Amino acid sequence: MQGDHDGRHQQRISEPKSAHYYTPDSDVAYPLIYAPITQRKLSNVRTRLRHAFLLLLALLALLVSGYSIVTHRDVRANDPLRHVRSARPVDSDNYDSGASFAPPAIPKLWAVYAPYSSVEVYEPPPEDCRVTQVNILQRHGARYPTFGQSTRIAKALSRLQSADSFLDERLHFVTNYQYGLGVNNLIPFGESQSHESGRKSFARYSKLTNWDNLPFVRASGSDRVVRSALKWIEGFATSSGDVLQPPLALILPQVIGGYNNTLEDKSCPNLGHPLGQVQEWQSRYAQPIADRLNAVARGIPNNLTAEDAEALIELCTMETLAVEEYSPFCELFSKEEFEGFEYSVDLDKFYFTGHGSQLGPVEGVGYVNELLARLINQPVQDRTQTNTTLDSNPETFPLGRGIYADFSHDNLIVAVVSAMGLFKNHRMGDTSNTGVLDPEKLDRSRAWFLSRIVPFSGRMVVERMECGIPLNDDAVGYDDSTGMKERQRRRAERNDSVYVRILMNDAVQGLEFCEGVDGDGLCPLHAFVHSQAYARENGQGDWERCFE
Ligand SMILES: *[C@@H]1O[C@H](CO)[C@@H](O)[C@H](O)[C@H]1NC(C)=O
Ligand SMILES: *[C@@H]1O[C@H](CO)[C@@H](O)[C@H](O)[C@H]1NC(C)=O
Ligand SMILES: *[C@@H]1O[C@H](CO)[C@@H](O)[C@H](O)[C@H]1NC(C)=O
Ligand SMILES: *[C@@H]1O[C@H](CO)[C@@H](O)[C@H](O)[C@H]1NC(C)=O
Repeated sequence: MQGDHDGRHQQRISEPKSAHYYTPDSDVAYPLIYAPITQRKLSNVRTRLRHAFLLLLALLALLVSGYSIVTHRDVRANDPLRHVRSARPVDSDNYDSGASFAPPAIPKLWAVYAPYSSVEVYEPPPEDCRVTQVNILQRHGARYPTFGQSTRIAKALSRLQSADSFLDERLHFVTNYQYGLGVNNLIPFGESQSHESGRKSFARYSKLTNWDNLPFVRASGSDRVVRSALKWIEGFATSSGDVLQPPLALILPQVIGGYNNTLEDKSCPNLGHPLGQVQEWQSRYAQPIADRLNAVARGIPNNLTAEDAEALIELCTMETLAVEEYSPFCELFSKEEFEGFEYSVDLDKFYFTGHGSQLGPVEGVGYVNELLARLINQPVQDRTQTNTTLDSNPETFPLGRGIYADFSHDNLIVAVVSAMGLFKNHRMGDTSNTGVLDPEKLDRSRAWFLSRIVPFSGRMVVERMECGIPLNDDAVGYDDSTGMKERQRRRAERNDSVYVRILMNDAVQGLEFCEGVDGDGLCPLHAFVHSQAYARENGQGDWERCFE
């Protein structure tokens, strides 16, 4: 695993800040050179001469900066050291708030291609509670386009680049543009995201571990997932001053149909990938983009299609994260068009392994049953994707650990949250739970935003805690406008002492499906187990339907 990727990472960290951060192009030197002149009174010939000279300088500066932008853009795609050249601040907030090299509002509209950002500020457990176990299910960090995406991007690019010229100057860079992204693998930004997550896990949960109780870490077998797990471990270990070095205990091979793998989403052979809804929506939001581009591309032999337009947006998202600079492709799209793109990806996953799919959620059942086993400290009960050989062996499925961290893919995590009952697409605040996403009309009040569920490096954290710890009686005269003290009092009166709380990317989930959940998002563990009937009953027939 210690390939040149890791070597590059080391160098990159020690490299000073460079000009690769997102800076709007208008911030180049030109306005600064020009500004003093306007404040002068141009009364005599000398001043006028100087004015002309300064103007010439300004023009030169413009030319040079324009030239360097152009050459920079041409060169960077083929520059093997381009990642080394872009150092990042060590400040972790950089990763919690997304990518600093793009305008803040835009990457949040990239659905599963959004970089991780905290959806809410992490709320520590209530004072009367003490966390006793955490289960982290995390997506790999940011990556290059997959093979399929690369093919679609290449097709769209070749169509666009076959134009003789462009009437829109935002497209002029396309003529000399060279595509240079890798395929499938984790990118340096993605490594840093995972490292940062490990660091943060240590900061939050280090009390749950010691030499005899190290985090138990598993990964599904693809390179980017394994590397993400290793980077998380690195972040965790470094934070502990290299005292606690959890091993990557288990890599579950990705042999489709040949290996029982609870961290892989390809376990249900009859699960189709319905494309109708996505095509329907693409014809509405992406066809107008294609038409607009076709209209300004002179002499284009094959018009771009709606799918091509979407591929160019994907290129924008992934080039931005790989090069760590706002891609010029992104400048081709408006905020509304990015919203259309986001909805397209949200629809795709909703109808693939999400609530909109009959058989998708069952792919998450094996993981949920493993989660329940850890939470209640009992052997795994499952007849779906679990490997009984592994899960009955304490070496490969230990109980009683403080921290479990599992690394996987977006489609699997979407299946898991759907199997559990999270993010049911009711309109916000409406509990009828009948909502499916409308492929003909963008639904702004949906609960289903993948940028908040599985962005790159996105994570679900299930905290188990013991509550009812007696508190100092400082409640007299205490302003309890949020009801916090009252909830503590009720927990203390209850017979339950063990609770679970679920955070998606730091946002506490309401757990409407869990009986007895309170305003802190805490649900008694036994009620939570009870609520997971779909998993405990092995998909209630859906698993069998996967093979019929
Ligand atoms: C289960 O895991 C064992 C141990 O890794 C492996 O030998 C076996 O092939 C696995 N079986 C399936 C069906 O995944
Ligand atoms: C290509 O798109 C342009 C602009 O939308 C349109 O005028 C033209 O008819 C299209 N050509 C073909 C062959 O579809
Ligand atoms: C793998 O999964 C299948 C289907 O659920 C099951 O029949 C089989 O026993 C599992 N194999 C192992 C080793 O757990
Ligand atoms: C708590 O347990 C006791 C004894 O088992 C029972 O009588 C009581 O009703 C329980 N209280 C609640 C709130 O469930």
